[in-house]
Amino acid sequence: MEKLWVVDFGSQYSLLIVRRARELGVYAELLPWNRLPEAIPPEVRGIIFSGSHASASEGPPLPESWIGQRPSLAICYSAQWLAAKAGGAVAESHAREYGPAQLELIAHSPLWRDMPVSSRVWMSHSDTIIQLPRGAKALARTADIPYAAYEIADRSVYAVQFHPEVAHTEAGATILRNFLYEICGFKGDWRPEAEIDSVIASLQRQMPDGHAIGALSGGIDSTVAALLVHRAIGERFHGVFVDTGLLRAGEVEAVLNAYQQVGLPVQRVCAEKLFLSALNGITDPELKRKTIGRLFIEVFEKEAQKLPEVRYLVQGTIYPDVVESGTGVSATIKSHHNVGGLPEKLALELVEPLRLFFKDEVRALGRKLGLPEAFLRRHPFPGPGLAVRILGEITPERVNRLRQADAIFLQVLEAHGWYDRTWQAFAVLLPQKSVGVAGDQRRYGETIALRAVNSTDGMTADPTALPQELLFEAARRILAEVPNVVRVVYDLSTKPPATIEWE
Ligand code: XMP
Repeated sequence: MEKLWVVDFGSQYSLLIVRRARELGVYAELLPWNRLPEAIPPEVRGIIFSGSHASASEGPPLPESWIGQRPSLAICYSAQWLAAKAGGAVAESHAREYGPAQLELIAHSPLWRDMPVSSRVWMSHSDTIIQLPRGAKALARTADIPYAAYEIADRSVYAVQFHPEVAHTEAGATILRNFLYEICGFKGDWRPEAEIDSVIASLQRQMPDGHAIGALSGGIDSTVAALLVHRAIGERFHGVFVDTGLLRAGEVEAVLNAYQQVGLPVQRVCAEKLFLSALNGITDPELKRKTIGRLFIEVFEKEAQKLPEVRYLVQGTIYPDVVESGTGVSATIKSHHNVGGLPEKLALELVEPLRLFFKDEVRALGRKLGLPEAFLRRHPFPGPGLAVRILGEITPERVNRLRQADAIFLQVLEAHGWYDRTWQAFAVLLPQKSVGVAGDQRRYGETIALRAVNSTDGMTADPTALPQELLFEAARRILAEVPNVVRVVYDLSTKPPATIEWE
């Protein structure tokens, strides 16, 4: 299978390059700069060298022996490093260029096919190329920098000082498409769902015997991972769904229904009482999360012990999680476990069929495997469930109150056609009581906060500008239908500085 390699020098945008290439139908993989193989296999048709937070004079080296072997696109730091290495000159810029700049094309290049002569690009660098090496041709400039792009045609090197992978670069997708199709000659026919058979075949090799267990949370990743394993090893796979009592209204039934529709064998463990009594009296958010995590492991472990010779644990880890866990070299490395601590505790071999896929690709796999559309389009939902949306004490009454308010908000969003136009939307129950009136009586009641955000990955978010009549209708219904709620507010905070969830 033809593929693109993206060499990661630690830019915050490296993974975005992989994503963009895949969106353009080219399978791409991220390789950390300090763990590169000597040889480039034949299926690699092109290479993109990422940016970096380092400066060209002190940063990590590009693999020089690779240059000229495959068409390559060097971005930002890599463009500067290559220019300096080949005999050009790079210096610190007078003004740190960060943000939008107007790119002017000054020479023809296959990189510029279908590009306007002038367009907005995104810059993020403090060094700049002040002299090109011999054999290099300047392709574009901005008001501040003379060599915003160059090519060294006989080595098939193309270089840009700006970031074509970020959405702020107007013609970014065109530039990347030109590099991949015009210059590297990719066919561009890669689709995630075409990988299903090969993923299943490799799972069969990985699990020749013994049984596998998977914790299904109701989310898309754990479900698609389980489905793939089930297709690979059949009845040797056992799914466990722990009902914590902290899912949204009607969700347990909807989720179990979806599993049934695709023939996924899943054991439901009813543990609502156990979870609610363990959470009784806890108000600290971290302690809530820890309690839920610990109980989850206990319940799951007990189920695993009932099964014959379990050898494997199936997890829905996806590509960004893998990169964040340390395969990459960016500054934001964190360890990641979907079901924290389980594999060590149970001494099981980890099986992660979605390691190489992005979220939207997992959705495409799920669609192809027959999961219902209603299941696939649901908003993201946190592992600890409604517990992180109930500020203060978690009691069965308060869980019901929140669940009811949340269901009303989601129904109103659907009715107005806004469910799919917002990335995540939910209600939060606040412990702060305030005064209200019922008939002629004053009475204290709780507050519901409504939150709807737009985001691409949850890292940053903006409040969704929901229509006023939608918000009014949701508030009116919540106040009328949910007992003990006397006030409804709408959260207008961006992330940062706020987070999406309230706890
Ligand atoms: P925050 O609140 O950190 O949320 O801005 C970003 C995204 O992550 C989800 N989230 C969680 N998901 N376990 C999860 O599986 C958690 O403890 C958790 N906390 C937040 C949140 O719903 C949003 O999509």
